[in-house]
Amino acid sequence: MNALLALRPWETPEVTSWGRLPMSAVDRRAGAMSLDGEWRFQLLPSPDASLSDLWSSTYVPGAWTLQDTGDLPQYTNVRMPFAEYPPSSPSENPTGVYEREVDVPAEWAGRRIVLQVGAAESVLLVEVDGRPVGISKDSHLAAEFELTPLVRPGSPATVRLTVVKWSDASHIEDQDQWWHGGITRSVLLYATDPLYLADVTVRSRADGELRVDCQVRHGGGALPDGWYVTGHLDGCEPLTQDPEFDRLNAEDERVSDFLGEARILATVPEVRSWTAETPELYDLTVRLHRPDGTVADTSHHRIGFRDVEIIGRDLLVNGERIYIRGVNRHDFHPLTGRTVSYHDMRADLVLLKRFGFNAIRTAHYPNDPALYDLADELGFYVVDEADIESHDHAHEIADDPRYLNAFVDRVSRMVLRDKNHPSIIIWSLGNESDYGANHDAAAGWVRRHDPTRPIQYEGAAKLDWAATDDASDLACPMYAPIEDCVAHALSGEQTRPLIQCEYSHAMGNSNGTLADHWAAIESTPGLQGGFIWEFWDHGILQHVTDGRPAGRSGAGLYDNGVAAPGYRWAYGGDFGETVHDGAFIADGIVFPDRTPKPVMYEHREIAAPVLLQSYRHEGLVVQNHQCFRGLDWLAARWELTLADGRTLTAPAELPDLRPGETAAVPLPFALPEDGGEAWVTLRVTTKDDEPWGPRGTEVCAPQLRLRAAAPTPRDATVTSGPPVEVDAEGLLVHPLLTAAPTLSLWRAPTDNDELGGMAPRWRTWGLDALVRKVVAVHEDDGRVTVHAEYAGTVGVVRHVQRFTPVEGGVRIEESAELPEAFADVARVGSVFETVPGLDLLEWFGQGPWESYPDRSAGAPVGHHRVPVDELFTPYLRPQESGGRHGVRHFTLSAPDATGLAVRLDEPRQISVTRYRATDLTAAAHHDELIPRSGCVVHIDAAHRGLGTASCGPDTSASYLIPTGIHRWTWTLRAL
Ligand code: GAL
Ligand code: MG
Repeated sequence: MNALLALRPWETPEVTSWGRLPMSAVDRRAGAMSLDGEWRFQLLPSPDASLSDLWSSTYVPGAWTLQDTGDLPQYTNVRMPFAEYPPSSPSENPTGVYEREVDVPAEWAGRRIVLQVGAAESVLLVEVDGRPVGISKDSHLAAEFELTPLVRPGSPATVRLTVVKWSDASHIEDQDQWWHGGITRSVLLYATDPLYLADVTVRSRADGELRVDCQVRHGGGALPDGWYVTGHLDGCEPLTQDPEFDRLNAEDERVSDFLGEARILATVPEVRSWTAETPELYDLTVRLHRPDGTVADTSHHRIGFRDVEIIGRDLLVNGERIYIRGVNRHDFHPLTGRTVSYHDMRADLVLLKRFGFNAIRTAHYPNDPALYDLADELGFYVVDEADIESHDHAHEIADDPRYLNAFVDRVSRMVLRDKNHPSIIIWSLGNESDYGANHDAAAGWVRRHDPTRPIQYEGAAKLDWAATDDASDLACPMYAPIEDCVAHALSGEQTRPLIQCEYSHAMGNSNGTLADHWAAIESTPGLQGGFIWEFWDHGILQHVTDGRPAGRSGAGLYDNGVAAPGYRWAYGGDFGETVHDGAFIADGIVFPDRTPKPVMYEHREIAAPVLLQSYRHEGLVVQNHQCFRGLDWLAARWELTLADGRTLTAPAELPDLRPGETAAVPLPFALPEDGGEAWVTLRVTTKDDEPWGPRGTEVCAPQLRLRAAAPTPRDATVTSGPPVEVDAEGLLVHPLLTAAPTLSLWRAPTDNDELGGMAPRWRTWGLDALVRKVVAVHEDDGRVTVHAEYAGTVGVVRHVQRFTPVEGGVRIEESAELPEAFADVARVGSVFETVPGLDLLEWFGQGPWESYPDRSAGAPVGHHRVPVDELFTPYLRPQESGGRHGVRHFTLSAPDATGLAVRLDEPRQISVTRYRATDLTAAAHHDELIPRSGCVVHIDAAHRGLGTASCGPDTSASYLIPTGIHRWTWTLRAL
């Protein structure tokens, strides 16, 4: 048996590694030999099982759970997928054995040879030519092993990597995500000189001060005398070693035979400092020289000059109070799971930049090293989080000394690897692991090793936001109600910045009240933002017929958030797991294919770099809404939207404003006397190419109302002409409608409605199946009034429809009296269905994207036109979708311009989809929906806010529907 397996490291939490090299910030990716590609592979039922002669092959990097190996992904949130208590793991424990020959280049003779495994979950055992090399844990950090004594340059060596899926470490990797197994990041082999840079620590401050600390080792043992380091930084004089810090070459000060240290000090004149808005990077090259001046080793770094500090209750970057417009991001791809390419990570970050995000929490583990390079380059503030989440057994583990080593190991190795990234402004000790001595130990290590950055840990800070002596320098709650945050900031007790590590849970149709959060944040000193939960809907592309994950062969089998026919986005339970947490894994602001959900537009507007503040004295007030940049990188154009259908445009000159400043600019249009309601929009785009968006990329579109609507004159009643026709049931008969307007109080429950407990209540009340009874039908003067009752289980709604013939159509005045028993329903409004063929919606109101009463800040008022099939947002688990807020009037038309027109008495919530609420409620996945040929149209007198109650606060009281009488009037005409 494999000697390493005999140690049973998968059930020994004290063993975090064996034979593994110390982590360092020296990046060896460039110049390394990639071992990615096909490896021989066997999946054993347990680590104790014997290998067979039957090898298949599989691709590295990759999760074997997505590679047709028979072991499938499983999703659980809090609970562990097995019953064993820490530190035990189940006896059925899939174990992957990867093997390949590696040709060690002949020219590496005399060099030090190192194997790097980018990430393996959850225990990695390494052997070369049958000899044990090392062990590593932490599924999200690389492990390096020195192979020099084991391989012969010029000859092949057999590398075997054994990966045990379940272990003591799984109990501290209990993050809310899919469980996988495999080698999920690249494998490399590289060589260095025996004299090498073991670590490089860069401190670069906003004032241009630079300190580079180098650690040097010699693979052969004792360090030779006379080595030295030099550096090169773009645009600067050559950098030389600080003579005051020559700790190793002076015999008497030699610290160790194996470890040498040297320091470079410099001040960079006129430094361009780094911020997320201005990600100015400098190329730093550090060279280690042998005594004869030849270069033994080189390390490249892209560094940024910036300061981060907490003063009082403010988190400052370069002395300025910043806002954290953040998102939690998991490593995710719908085909490859946790294996993500550089290209994909770049696309994630580019998209976030385009939608105004400036911060990422690497929920909940260190990401691929390239992510931080990209964050440095594109400009993001990063909270780098250690791979520790013991959610299911949090309390036992936080103080369990058997896990002490693992906590310190995971946190310190993250810091050692990532410390030179300017983007990282905060270290996080992990997530949802209670709070114990193991955290304090890890925090102590970080505070000593890197005093330049604050630490955060939600589990510590949640006990008392105002504490000053725990393992967190910030109060970083999750899902705290806005009022609680504001109250804390106003209490006089606040001691540290409050930045929510998670807020605004994006599951399904969600993120209600995001704009209210930001109104509070920006008006309350002490509040600085937060990280939305989360970026991804983790739907895995799956064949519907046989349930297999599509894996790499699924490339391109999706578009616009929707899987191709025959495929679907799998969530918990779809791989046959009996223990799972369903669609809770689909809670992102983007679909599994990175298509933005409507909330992204909401966020973009909230984060707009330029705001329109007010309109007074014929002028508009423009504000620079950034922290560091001027407005000179933006181009803009004015747009005037008139209710009568006209849209005028005019060029815009953005004023020269420093961050936070405002200026009045003249209204660029003479406001026509006529035209009714009028809105001005500033369409802001990038003026030049930005690394994340070519010139002309839309950045925001702030809008102000210039003139309110004049009261609409009532359409004159037509007494001649065709009378209104109702059938025996008192239902309107109309040639364009296949289902007459009836009362609706129900929406297909959103995830928030379900998990927040509202939908179960609505079902108990019978709101999904109200029983309609006609009470009376009156006709008078061509007008028909229908009194009906809609009965639920606990109450009855009295509903009145009065139909009046008007020029070209019918006016419908409605009222519904909601009894006290129906406090807080989903909607009050009309629903009807149209004949097929009316495939285009044109409306005047908010749009063009989906919006709801508490998520409508990002949808400007305008004249919009969208094909009906594109109005619906394909949330993974079908639910209420496709709403448009603030609609004044709309038409639904066929290509020949026939169709219907609806005019509303005031701006209302509407939706036009191919689905009845019952269709949506009945389906579990988007692909199960069968579109109807006509349209299902809702016009709501009131529509409940969305909130975020699937995890966190519900919507605010102001977005709830009051009981009592609701009235609404609309006219329906044929086009
Ligand atoms: C948080 C947790 C996340 C995720 C989220 C709900 O409590 O930190 O990992 O589970 O809730 O989606
Ligand atoms: Mg959790």
